[in-house]
Amino acid sequence: MEMNQPIGHTPLDGKPEGLLGRPIDRIEGRLKVTGQAPYAYETRELKNPAYGFIVTAGIAAGTIRSIDTQAARTAPGVIHVMTHENVPAQGEKKEQVWPQLAGREVRFYGQPVAFVVAETFEQARAAAGLVTLTYDVAKPKASLRAAMPETYKPKPAQTDPDSALGDFEGAFSAAAVKLDVEYTTPAQIHAQMEPHATIASWEGDRVVLFTANQMLNRGQKSLASVLGLPPENVRLVSRYVGGGFGSKLQALPEATLAALASKVIRRPVKVALTRQQEFHVGTHRTDTIQRIRLGADKDGRLGAIAHESWSAAAEGDQFFETSANVTRSLYAAPNRITRHRIANLNTPIASAMRAPGEAVGQLAFECAMDELAEHLSLDPIELRVRNEPAEDPEKKVPFSVRQLVPCMREGARLFGWDRRQAPASTREGQWMLGMGMSAAARLNPLMPSSAAIRLGPDGILTVRMAMTDIGTGTYTILAQIAGEMLGLPIERIRVELGDTAFPAASGSGGSFGAGSAGSALYVACDELRQTLLKAADLNPEGAVFADGRVASGNRSEALADLAGANGIEAKGEIKPGEMKQKYSQYSFGAHFAEVGVDADTGEIRLRRMLGVFTGGRILNAKTAHSQAIGGMTFGVGAALMEEAAIDPRYGSFVNHDLAEYHVPVHADIPAIDAVFLPELDDKANPLKSKGLGELGICGAGAAVANAVYNATGIRIREYPLTLDKVL
Ligand code: MOS
Repeated sequence: MEMNQPIGHTPLDGKPEGLLGRPIDRIEGRLKVTGQAPYAYETRELKNPAYGFIVTAGIAAGTIRSIDTQAARTAPGVIHVMTHENVPAQGEKKEQVWPQLAGREVRFYGQPVAFVVAETFEQARAAAGLVTLTYDVAKPKASLRAAMPETYKPKPAQTDPDSALGDFEGAFSAAAVKLDVEYTTPAQIHAQMEPHATIASWEGDRVVLFTANQMLNRGQKSLASVLGLPPENVRLVSRYVGGGFGSKLQALPEATLAALASKVIRRPVKVALTRQQEFHVGTHRTDTIQRIRLGADKDGRLGAIAHESWSAAAEGDQFFETSANVTRSLYAAPNRITRHRIANLNTPIASAMRAPGEAVGQLAFECAMDELAEHLSLDPIELRVRNEPAEDPEKKVPFSVRQLVPCMREGARLFGWDRRQAPASTREGQWMLGMGMSAAARLNPLMPSSAAIRLGPDGILTVRMAMTDIGTGTYTILAQIAGEMLGLPIERIRVELGDTAFPAASGSGGSFGAGSAGSALYVACDELRQTLLKAADLNPEGAVFADGRVASGNRSEALADLAGANGIEAKGEIKPGEMKQKYSQYSFGAHFAEVGVDADTGEIRLRRMLGVFTGGRILNAKTAHSQAIGGMTFGVGAALMEEAAIDPRYGSFVNHDLAEYHVPVHADIPAIDAVFLPELDDKANPLKSKGLGELGICGAGAAVANAVYNATGIRIREYPLTLDKVL
């Protein structure tokens, strides 16, 4: 179905005690914790693999003058050494997937320059160390700040990089209260648990890749382009993924290299990135510089909003951090501009990470709102309430559902917001205490998806989709949707994902996975319901699917009997339609944080945190809660510790491991909770659900930063808020 009109009553409505929404455990959980859910690198389906190791460039810009592989080629166990001199012919770059070893040019530190394949991992790694290169070194451009004069407007991606409404400059200069501030956010790395890994193997002119990937159909198309194959000759398998956070939205060089080398040596090749390689061979979130200007009247009504963002892109790329996009929909003001500019730098490839755009955009904007509230001596919630728009302030269309104000009000009540004091006025021994809040908003996209299901004569329903579960609970919520639709217990649903041999699906990213893939499955189940009713010759009016049976009127049939000896199949498909244009669709929320700041050392400790969210129908209360607090935890990381520090001389990240790149651990997150307010969004999709994956991170760090201000009276505009900046 195409989403062209609001969804009316569905079989999912009015069943509060149903399977859907219940906080059931992840159905693959046992396999995962017992090590029986193989990640890409662990699969045993491809026999006798050789091991690859990537040699990376030690310079950020220049050309390879010579590459000596003699010692590596004759090292123990080595089967093949691939460089730009002997790499097989390749096709075209697609999206952010480049041909590998494609020439002498080096564009960033960590760019693959050779690939060593050996009998064992140790032999490959040892031989990789024997490859010697000489370069003609150029001076790298590796500082966004230094490159500000040459920033330019990137090509529109999904949305125009710029927007303008009314007369911002005029309204801003005439405003009674003005704020003009610059915030910076550093480069950040996904830090997902499972590194990128691929095992590639060929059969004739078809290649299969067991690979760590979030979006299989996208990966299939881009790898096919780079390998010069039709997409149907490329199969990706990714049944279990150990976290993504955006790092696996596209195929990385290890997938291309494994495929190329496997073709040459006619044997499966497996390769994983080391943790250090993750920082440079993999993608990262660019650093940003953001200027925010707010003009308000004395009552705090915004007349002018400007949000400008500068970010860095890799050479030959125009990916940009859409920091200001959410600002277009958040608060009312007649005069407004948003603007995105980029500079191309010799830094590794910048791409999407954990709520691309909103995460760092709200780190800046929601603190600027806090600053404005302070100038106006207004409660930060009250300031936001006064600027609550009646419709989307730029698109001029209604919101599908917008419960930002109820989220803030309920959060304030649950958190004890009324106990918040003036800045720098609450002490507990050496600790200065403070509370902060932030709004949260994350776009809700719907992506094309399809599903195939089959009810077998044993009464087991099998679901197949080229969808992924990156640790978020997709297997489980899909089983819940199918079970709810067909009245089957969860034990009788088999969900098979992670294979491009199955019907194409959205994959996991952009908070669109559950809604998109789930809706395709919903449509397939609806189709199967009709088929079953026909087969049973039952009146669809008032038919009830429950306990493995379908009942209507005074008759009831077992689904297993209706399936017949061959089973019954159905397909479903969902596409975004006009609803995208007719309504502004976001998931909303509000964050509340309390921190203590050591008056002597400046050490910042989170004390407690609460998020109150709305995301339409909640498909599984436990996985939704986990998604939310996971996102909030990353918000704390972004506020207080995460920074991939670029060495501008060498264009490399100096803290390229998890010992030096800090993400929060349990001791950093003493008390954190998330609450969902009831909501159904009938403009979103047939499930009436909206995305939650990235909502938790949006604004979370700003609430922490605003709490630090409230504790200390010191406003830090340079993330992360480390203790040296407090003192
Ligand atoms: Mo997300 S950054 O789209 O995985």
